[in-house]
Amino acid sequence: MSDAKIEKYLDIFELCQDPFEVFSVWYEIAKKEEKNPDAMVLSTVGLDGKPNSRFVLLKRFGKEDGFIFFTSLLSRKSQEIEKNCFVSLLFWWENTGGQVKVRGKADRVSEKEADEYFNTRPRTAKISAWASQQSQPLKSYEELLERFERLKKEFEGKDVPRPPYWLGFRVIPFEYEFLIYTQERLHKRILYYLQDGVWKKTYLNP
Ligand SMILES: Cc1cc2nc3c(=O)[nH]c(=O)nc-3n(C[C@H](O)[C@H](O)[C@H](O)COP(=O)(O)O)c2cc1C
Repeated sequence: MSDAKIEKYLDIFELCQDPFEVFSVWYEIAKKEEKNPDAMVLSTVGLDGKPNSRFVLLKRFGKEDGFIFFTSLLSRKSQEIEKNCFVSLLFWWENTGGQVKVRGKADRVSEKEADEYFNTRPRTAKISAWASQQSQPLKSYEELLERFERLKKEFEGKDVPRPPYWLGFRVIPFEYEFLIYTQERLHKRILYYLQDGVWKKTYLNP
């Protein structure tokens, strides 16, 4: 698609009072145009009160379901979310020139949801989930590889269950910001925010 055409498809703010509709349309375009449409930066408030960010993958999203990603409860991000559930998600879709920020409240998904998704993962990714004590110090990279190989043998001929510490979070938004990037730096920005349970919107200076 040409840049002008993409911009036209993205520019649907006047049509959508609900930001979830905007996100859904943008995501459909991103799926066609982008190499990594699901990569999003998750920012949390660190245990020291300072911001912290990393990429995670968006695995599912829905109007009521929120934005779901999976991770380890041993990880730094999980510990941070347990202390302060407010997070920010950020997508940058380079080919389409769309940036989306979602601020919201994160909550654990159910064990059932985690099982369902875990069971769709390739076997090696399942074993990696057992091998990694995510975010904990590691003496050397070799130590991780050895643990992975040992577990591979242990699980030979058996199903690999979900580790009890491997779960997901859903982010329920209270604010969305969409930006259409333009070469002239006259980016089009629009903020959707919740006021008394109703979505309001306003354009912002770029
Ligand atoms: C493109 C990309 C996608 C990633 N997806 C995930 C993910 O879905 N879940 C996850 O736990 N880590 C994912 N990671 C690794 C995280 O960025 C991070 O290094 C890890 O989760 C530990 O973060 P923490 O110590 O802040 O908790 C991804 C990394 C990249 C580069």
